[in-house]
Amino acid sequence: MSSHSHHSDSGHTCPHPTADENATPGWAAVRSRPLSGTVALVTGASSGIGEGTALTLAALGARVTVVARRADRLEALVEKIESAGGQALAVGADITDEEQAQAAVARAVDTYGRLDTVVANAGVMILGPITGADTTDWRRMIELNTLGLMYTAHAAAPHLLEAASDGPRGVSDIVLVSSTAGRMVRGGGGVYNASKYAVTAFGEAFRKEVTQRHLRVSLVEPGAVETELPLQNRPDVRDRMYGATPRWSACVPRTWRTPSPSSSPGRATSR
Ligand SMILES: NC(=O)c1ccc[n+]([C@@H]2O[C@H](COP(=O)([O-])OP(=O)(O)OC[C@H]3O[C@@H](n4cnc5c(N)ncnc54)[C@H](OP(=O)(O)O)[C@@H]3O)[C@@H](O)[C@H]2O)c1
Repeated sequence: MSSHSHHSDSGHTCPHPTADENATPGWAAVRSRPLSGTVALVTGASSGIGEGTALTLAALGARVTVVARRADRLEALVEKIESAGGQALAVGADITDEEQAQAAVARAVDTYGRLDTVVANAGVMILGPITGADTTDWRRMIELNTLGLMYTAHAAAPHLLEAASDGPRGVSDIVLVSSTAGRMVRGGGGVYNASKYAVTAFGEAFRKEVTQRHLRVSLVEPGAVETELPLQNRPDVRDRMYGATPRWSACVPRTWRTPSPSSSPGRATSR
């Protein structure tokens, strides 16, 4: 991640990058457009890291298929990419449904004729202790962070292998977005941790199977990035996560904070 920092209304400096800051490649890279002629697909592209990644891939010359459930957000992203001279396709899909994940990959290949780069990024993080947890939250995380990512990789693999054999770069890429939580466990994040540790194991095996055929399997483990990710949590959990120190709370947009118990919006259900 970059070394950008930004100031909050509290006057503290946030040491963490925002997804937008990461979406700005250097001008030299943009001019040379090293991904020209290639096709990319990004899951979870309607916000945060996925949106930033899609913008960057498009700026580097790739035609990009952006996948998530919020079609309006995706359409806005496609417009943004097209107005900057890029090419993009919005595909509304819930990738916890394997058929929808397969259909999203098929749309990309049908539209653009190939698939060189996949960023399996869609994810949800709902924190809280294991004891007394609502296991619906567990299913949401495992079905998206783990199985959804696996469905995406499974559907894309044949196309990526084909692209590696005839692509302009001689390689293709799948990037699995895990987390520092896929490497380091704390109390209160057990199932999020489990969903991301599984991504590491899956990626290791996949890499061993396809590297010699020039499909590169990468694991990205971001630290804290200012996105909509915490919105899925109960307000009290959000406050504990991000309100603990001024330094951390400087990273949190005002809308994420719980104003007061009386005006608490209750559980976030923005999607
Ligand atoms: N932000 C961080 O600090 C951080 C740190 C480490 C790792 N990560 C990882 O980075 C990835 C992206 O997260 P983010 O921080 O960018 O959060 P975000 O802004 O909440 O983005 C999550 C994306 O996943 C999509 N998504 C959710 N459910 C989906 C479903 N069923 N089918 C398809 N797409 C779905 C969302 O779109 P829709 O709601 O429109 O479907 C959204 O585009 C996640 O895997 C997360 O675990 C984030």
